[in-house]
Amino acid sequence: MSGVDLDEHVALRLEAFRRHRPFRDTPAAAAAIREYLTPHHTSGSMRALRREAGVVAIAAWHFVPDTWFGAPSWNLAIDHRADAPADEIEAWLVDELGPALPTMDAELDVLVHASYRPVFAALQRLGLGIDSVQLVGEVDRAIAGLGDAPLPSGLRIESMTREDLPSVFAMLEDTFAEEPEHGWFCALPKFVAKQRVELENAVEDTNAHQLVVRDDRDRVVGHVGASLDLGNRLWGPCSSLGLCFARSIRGRGVLRPLYRAFLEGLRTRGVGVFRGGTSRPAVMHLGRVMDRTFQGASFRRNAPFSAEHFARVLDANAAA
Ligand SMILES: CC(C)(COP(=O)(O)OP(=O)(O)OC[C@H]1O[C@@H](n2cnc3c(N)ncnc32)[C@H](O)[C@@H]1OP(=O)(O)O)[C@@H](O)C(=O)NCCC(=O)NCCS
Repeated sequence: MSGVDLDEHVALRLEAFRRHRPFRDTPAAAAAIREYLTPHHTSGSMRALRREAGVVAIAAWHFVPDTWFGAPSWNLAIDHRADAPADEIEAWLVDELGPALPTMDAELDVLVHASYRPVFAALQRLGLGIDSVQLVGEVDRAIAGLGDAPLPSGLRIESMTREDLPSVFAMLEDTFAEEPEHGWFCALPKFVAKQRVELENAVEDTNAHQLVVRDDRDRVVGHVGASLDLGNRLWGPCSSLGLCFARSIRGRGVLRPLYRAFLEGLRTRGVGVFRGGTSRPAVMHLGRVMDRTFQGASFRRNAPFSAEHFARVLDANAAA
């Protein structure tokens, strides 16, 4: 593996990130991208498509035994020049990945940048499908987009307390065991154990941001929690989020006011960006209302949705 490959890969990926409005284009961001891609190039496999003028496309992969989501996975990083002929990129990737994919005997972890449509096409030809879309929101812009958002009567939003933990654990764990298609790893034992520790720590942490929705009998019927990352090098102070409603309050328009309360809490903490992956139509809809940027799509084997399920996100951002 040559350092030149890694340099070229970082340059391609940096160029792609620059197409996202909230991205913070700094040397620290370039360093973060380099750190992320280094194991692909030092302990993984790499293929490059080169022309006289230099590298056109790179695909690199390495095995990660211990991922944040709790399943050993092959992480693939695929990037290409924006001006490369789409047909050429697609055909090259099918040729290179076709023989390699069957040897990757674990989950795949592949987030493909929104602008890499030839990669989408190649992965689909190889039998992978979109599992979720990753959306990046800007807190002020999102609050402005949501506008006034009253809660349906009988419900209220409050900070999560230690006493709420059993109800929140049960709601999260039961939901994703019943509906794994909307979060395939959320019921994995390692993920569940990590989530419990995070929520237990959050109720002791005065800067944590965890909200619950209560009904008129004081039962917990909804939860949204921030995973704060105040030193993020790509986006500045940012947060990812987890979101869950009991069936009793779904479909009643509670998500808009809950997002609003959640975002106001992020703003108070100096957080400007929030990120999350989703396959939920309600989340994709409010993503448009909040003008969230489509960062990319996660692909898996046996993905449960057709490409049509994500069409409105993909079409709206075809030029992203
Ligand atoms: C994701 C979840 C919180 C959505 O809650 P919900 O109760 O369906 O959402 P709401 O009824 O508040 O709808 C929110 C908005 O989406 C719209 N919406 C709902 N379903 C829609 C659909 N199928 N297509 C398009 N828009 C839709 C609503 O009209 C509403 O828009 P509005 O505020 O402009 O009127 C809920 O389905 C849930 O808890 N699921 C289980 C946990 C989960 O999957 N979490 C992962 C989330 S990424």
